[in-house]
Amino acid sequence: MALSDFLAELDALLSDATTAFAADADAAALEAARIQYLGAANGRIKSVQKGLKEVDKADKPAAGKRFNEVKQEIEAAFEAAKERPVAISGTAAGRAIAAGVSFDPTIPGIRPRLGRLHPITQTIDELKEIMGRLGFTAVDGPEVEDPWHNFEALNIPAEHPARDPLENFYLEKGVRTIFRGGQAAGGDNVEKTAAKTVLTPFMLLRSQTSTVQIRVMEKTPPPVRIISCGRVYRPDTADATHYPMFHQIEGLLIDRHVTMADLKSTLRLFARSAFAPDVHIRFRPSFFPFTEPSVEVDMSWQGGWMEMGGAGMVDPNVLRAVGYDPEEVTGFAFGLGIERICARRHVITDIRELYKNDVRFLHQF
Ligand code: FA5
Repeated sequence: MALSDFLAELDALLSDATTAFAADADAAALEAARIQYLGAANGRIKSVQKGLKEVDKADKPAAGKRFNEVKQEIEAAFEAAKERPVAISGTAAGRAIAAGVSFDPTIPGIRPRLGRLHPITQTIDELKEIMGRLGFTAVDGPEVEDPWHNFEALNIPAEHPARDPLENFYLEKGVRTIFRGGQAAGGDNVEKTAAKTVLTPFMLLRSQTSTVQIRVMEKTPPPVRIISCGRVYRPDTADATHYPMFHQIEGLLIDRHVTMADLKSTLRLFARSAFAPDVHIRFRPSFFPFTEPSVEVDMSWQGGWMEMGGAGMVDPNVLRAVGYDPEEVTGFAFGLGIERICARRHVITDIRELYKNDVRFLHQF
């Protein structure tokens, strides 16, 4: 074999072996590379060594000298790879090592940015906690509702302006099964028969969580003590205190001898826990078809008042619609805007901020 051919083989071996040992390899890969290049039985260095015998006699000393140099270089590359801190394949540290950049394991890692619950979700969790301590159980209701639960049973007749198409998000005709224990469902949109599948021409996105009052009372005999938090929808123009989709917390307590005083003390306790012990609440006379008397509930904020919601004593017509006897039981209900509660808790002056999905804003809470 010509000396030049033998030296070319040595160069190729050296280049391949040092590249393999310098790679971002874990311990198993490094051992595999050692066997491939330096293995005593079938390592590439052994087969190149066999070629040394075929080099012309005159060139043997030069060939042998170069062979020994290459062998030492490959062994040194392997030793260096063994000493290297264990590189986890594919990591930044591993790539840095492979690129010859030194890695300092004492440098603190880069903490990944963790997500967090949306401030509205946090507020809902806290409100459930507060009301849970007062003995109220949290329940949910559907966001797509039928006119019975959103209006009729809440004493809102067909001609009431709250049912105007411009005030609600009506959906396509819907067919659903209403189980009312054989009791007539009432209203023009609902067939007045016992429980069966009925056509309800105007399903809608619920405009208030008061729907859940009806759903609970239909299924549960008194006493009842629930809250329900969830989304409601109205075609309102968005401004600092309004959004077309927002959240309400509904409260309902039905029992014997419940009075307006119970409503007021419950809301005062609620406000003190949700905000601060020095918060003031104020009731203004108002009207809701499903409560009598009715009030608007305001809470003190930044030297003035903020309307938080409506409340009142459950109207006897509503109690009758769900099969309760208004002579036996009375109750109070309230519905408060959760965006406004959240805004007051975190001093957010414009609730639209909550829905811009700007993580710089949301990350603060
Ligand atoms: C009601 O929705 C009644 N269902 C409340 C009620 C429940 C009365 C039980 C009596 C008994 P109102 O439409 O006022 O009431 O809404 C209640 C609260 O929801 C408002 O005070 C306000 O805090 C919030 N709210 C109303 N509209 C919006 C809106 N577009 N964006 C954000 N919050 C709103």
